[in-house]
Parts: sequence; C-alpha cells; structure tokens
Amino acid sequence: MEDGHMRCDDWLHCRCYKRRTILGLAVAPLLLAGPLRAAEEGEAAKPLAPDDRFAFLTGPKKGQVVRAEDLALGGPQVQAYPMAPDGTVRSDNRLNLVILARFDPAALTDETRARAADGVVAYSAICTHQGCPVNMWSKERNAFVCSCHASIFDPRNAAEVIDGPAPRPLAALGLKLKDGVVTVASTFSGHVGVTQG
Ligand code: FES
Repeated sequence: MEDGHMRCDDWLHCRCYKRRTILGLAVAPLLLAGPLRAAEEGEAAKPLAPDDRFAFLTGPKKGQVVRAEDLALGGPQVQAYPMAPDGTVRSDNRLNLVILARFDPAALTDETRARAADGVVAYSAICTHQGCPVNMWSKERNAFVCSCHASIFDPRNAAEVIDGPAPRPLAALGLKLKDGVVTVASTFSGHVGVTQG
C-alpha cells in the first residue's frame, strides 16, 4: 500500500491476499447488516446522497476530502466514505464504502465516461459475490481485485466482471467535480453488494 492506494502487483501471492481472505469472510455479515441500521441512526449511517463529497479511508490523507488530483492517473483505486454537506463522514453504514480511480477519459467506455467526472470513476467497494471490500489492484490486468475469491472488475467498463465468481458488476456512481473536489452527482446504478434470495 502506498499513499493510501492499495497496490499488490503479484496479488494472488501477496500476503495481503491471504490475510484479506480471512478478514473479508469475517466482515461480510457486518456489511450486510448496514442498511438495517441506517434508518435508526444519524447522518453517519445514512446512504450516500447527491452533493456528498468523499473522505479518504486510509493513508496520509485519511479523513481528508478527495480531490481529482489526489488520484493517480491509471489507477490504483483508493477507498473512501462519502461525506455529507455538513462534514459528517457516512462511515457507520458499510455499504457506503466506495472505490475511486482516475483514468484518461478516452480510455473509458461511453457508459462509464457519462458517469465519470474528468476521468474519475466511482463504484461501490462491496463485492457482488460475498460482500468483501474490493480493496486490491492488479497492475497486470489494470483492474480492481476482490481479495476474498479473486473476482476482477474492469474500472473502465462499468466494473464489468472480467474474472472470478462475482455474478454482477459493482454498482456505479455518477460523479461531478466542484472546484476539483470529487462529488456525488447521482446515486448507485444498481443494488450494492450481494443480492439476497
Ligand atoms: S467476495 Fe468473493 S470474490 Fe469478492
């Protein structure tokens, strides 16, 4: 991990992979419990909403607002929680966890470019297989990797699944930039995380 970015070039054999496999399985029930809590708690537990910004989850800028220039061109992703207009970070709802990355807009599919803001893309970080955080990056595939069971998602093409057991793409967010700050324009394109039943 460097500067808050998740990176593991040899991800299949990375120590993080093995550690995250165990951790990811352990946290999956917590991720699924998020929506049930949202209605009972305050701003920090509410689902993200248009005009939210984002706060870094980890790294030297942890807690700070994410600006487009903070994101390395071409990946990897960073993990972040939405931040309400009043400055509350919505981290009490694990289904709010997102991944952000920045690419040359010309490298994005039309669908993805339409949601992106100057090449910045955002997706739910919750894997559609069993709900682990999608927290790794494959330099070889130029794609997001879920370390639990190695599903791989294409960030340039609507997070389509390009390998692994995940049944669906990650839910996508619409973005806009406000003075360089990455901001939610529209909420998730589909169901976040694991589909029940
Ligand atoms: S939870 Fe199984 S691949 Fe992500």
